[in-house]
Amino acid sequence: MQLTREGGSSRAARALRAFATVGLIAAAGCSTASTARPAGTTPAPNAGPATQNPASSLNAAIADQITNPVNAPASRDTAAAGGVTAADRIAAMLGPPAFLGPAQDTARREAFIDSLLSQMTLAEKLGQLNQPPGQWGDTGPVVSKGGEADVRAGHAGSFLGVYGADYTRRLQHAAEESRLHIPLLFGYDVIHGFRTIFPVPLAEASSWDPAAVERSARIAATEASAWGVTWTFAPMVDIARDPRWGRVVEGSGEDPYLGSMMAAAKVRGFQGDDLASDSTVMATAKHFAAYGGAEGGRDYNTVDISKRTLHAIYLPPFHAAVKEGVGSVMAAFDEIGGVPMHANGPLINGVLRHDWGFHGLVVSDYTGIMELERHGVAGTPEQAGILGLKAGVDIDMVSGIYLKNLPAAVDSGLVPVQDVDRAVKRVLRSKWDLGLFQDPYRYSDSTRQKTRTLTPADLRAAREEARESMVLLKNDSILPLRKDLGTIAVIGSLANDSLSCLGPWHGAGEAKDAVTILQGIKQAVSSDTKVIYAKGATPVLGGTDTAGFPEAMRAVRQADAVVLVIGETQAMSGEAASRSNIDLPGVQLALAKEIQATGKPLVVVLMNGRPLATPWLAEHAPAILESWFLGVQMGPAVADVLFGDVNPSGKLPVTVPRAVGQIPIYYDHKNTGRPPNPNDHYTSKYLHLPWTPLYPFGFGLSYTTFDVSAPRLSSPTMRPGDTLTVAVDVTNTGKRAGTEVVQLYLHDEVRSVTPPVKELRGFQRVDLQPGQTRTVHFPLTVNDLAFWGLDNRWIYEPGWFTVYVGSSSVDVKSTRFDLVDGSGP
Ligand code: NOJ
Repeated sequence: MQLTREGGSSRAARALRAFATVGLIAAAGCSTASTARPAGTTPAPNAGPATQNPASSLNAAIADQITNPVNAPASRDTAAAGGVTAADRIAAMLGPPAFLGPAQDTARREAFIDSLLSQMTLAEKLGQLNQPPGQWGDTGPVVSKGGEADVRAGHAGSFLGVYGADYTRRLQHAAEESRLHIPLLFGYDVIHGFRTIFPVPLAEASSWDPAAVERSARIAATEASAWGVTWTFAPMVDIARDPRWGRVVEGSGEDPYLGSMMAAAKVRGFQGDDLASDSTVMATAKHFAAYGGAEGGRDYNTVDISKRTLHAIYLPPFHAAVKEGVGSVMAAFDEIGGVPMHANGPLINGVLRHDWGFHGLVVSDYTGIMELERHGVAGTPEQAGILGLKAGVDIDMVSGIYLKNLPAAVDSGLVPVQDVDRAVKRVLRSKWDLGLFQDPYRYSDSTRQKTRTLTPADLRAAREEARESMVLLKNDSILPLRKDLGTIAVIGSLANDSLSCLGPWHGAGEAKDAVTILQGIKQAVSSDTKVIYAKGATPVLGGTDTAGFPEAMRAVRQADAVVLVIGETQAMSGEAASRSNIDLPGVQLALAKEIQATGKPLVVVLMNGRPLATPWLAEHAPAILESWFLGVQMGPAVADVLFGDVNPSGKLPVTVPRAVGQIPIYYDHKNTGRPPNPNDHYTSKYLHLPWTPLYPFGFGLSYTTFDVSAPRLSSPTMRPGDTLTVAVDVTNTGKRAGTEVVQLYLHDEVRSVTPPVKELRGFQRVDLQPGQTRTVHFPLTVNDLAFWGLDNRWIYEPGWFTVYVGSSSVDVKSTRFDLVDGSGP
């Protein structure tokens, strides 16, 4: 039974009076700062605070809250510190059977939530489903803003883009002053670090080191949670096979297996073992689903893929995140086959919730509910809201449609209130699981915010991960450089671009905290070495300005070695940053050609958020180091590799095309009926370009050399239920210690659905001293042999499988085994 608004108020008033008498509820009259952003002040997409001018992008009231944080009133701190929690207050108000229990006690949680729900008005319920944006992170039209007044009125259950211990405390206080005192969730895009910015996810994936990725997410969660963040909109687990799409930078590349490993690692890192711990945050697997399949690589664009491609390629990382216990999933902006994801009940309620057993929250993307009108499946905001809620989207980020338009839909019977209740319960459960009912202030800790930000240990971790995330693409015996060279010329504006070190989606990271490549090199070389910097060329799309060339060439002529840093700025990838070409922007290639013509030893360091097609460099530059965007410790990490303090070990998590016309190009393609054959005209290839990539998936060099033996099998046959072990010997055949990433691929030779030429099914990082050999084992079960069958389920079929093991997707040795008696699961 629902109480009327009046009845609820009087109960609440009684409870408030009760607590007021013991001094636990502060007097009314808190600041009610307006949160409306002035028109025309929308920050650039992807821009975190480091790229904004807070004074110009925030209204005065909010800016004041950030620059002059107001500490929580003492009486309320006392309330939290004294062990009296939001749950106490609610329990007292509701009376039995509501009671307080530990966050981990799910039976109590359900009883508590049922009690709470029974006290909520429809408006309060829809308030819980409404997520207004706060200070930061507009990534679309500013159609609403939220602040304390909305919270007090029960119109907001969570916020997008707020952080700061003091400000989030202040909003939680406002929540305490709402009728039911329900605490808020604070969501933020903590993608690859909060203040201590780590390598962008594509770079992290290049490490092929899930443990390192888990650690970076753990640190990001610890930092962000101290600043009040309870919920991150990460990991982004979209498979991306079109480097024109700017968001390729945010994910783990093209492969479902590697992507699943990274997705699970990130979820573990963000959420830890205990979501209610004050140093963990709820993670979000996004964007559900197939957002990376956007036609033409154009962001937000239509996706039209087969069900098999959806299940075999795009969904596995989401499934991995769900199996790892991810707390929330974000719906994607795309449509698949005519159904926008925000209205896609069969995928959200069906596959995600029913088939996979996901019990968490589904949040819309920014104005995703509103956009159902533009997609052309809703004629009114009300219809959009109904479609979204019915499809299983619980929280309406930014549109404000659930709050405003669903009351009429419920009143008219178009939406059963049970649908609303289901979504509200999911929101309340998340709050319970995060421990917010027990203590809404647990994440907003101004002391921890100071002590847990940019700590030396975290900076060390950022440098270590950055070292592992670079991929050495070419080295004609020029690297590593000596530290005692007479003169090094460092050329390219990116070498001195601290903001670009951070990459897109840099959370609350600040450019001032990033160490550039130029600084890193200066710190690394001997005091006798002269480092001359010249800007030379700046990445500008369509840029033609060569004014910096003469100065750069003067520096080059004086130098014993040249480090040329070229690529893209951080704003050239990320959301709404698609490119129709994937070459080096502007005059950078022209500068590279001039420098190369001098014959000076040349090392090209690429900084970029997507694979770049650079065939000229591949042929002519003596050395190329792919560094992506490596975060606050980019400079020292790049210098570590350039000067040989660290031996590079990264491998490409994406195929690098020779030209934009090859897109999509990925390693696990089909054989076709006419596989490419240079000697046969009527085969699948191009007239004027090789069909092979510039650099294959899994490729990456080292300063040493490795030999990976032919694979040995524990048995020539496998039966369902068996574990077949593949063993290979890996030897460091060079003179330096190094790490090889050994990769195992499988190929199903004949089956009822055309098989990819090979599919990654295992990898291991192996550290080896010079001359050392280690044997690596890969266990295989039928799960590794399964495919999405003709009858739309995962199956396996008997027959021969080829096992490939090696150091990239093309540099492999093989053997075969027979799967016998595989009659299906
Ligand atoms: C839009 C992006 O698509 C999504 O990834 C992000 O989490 C939200 N904006 C919130 O910033």
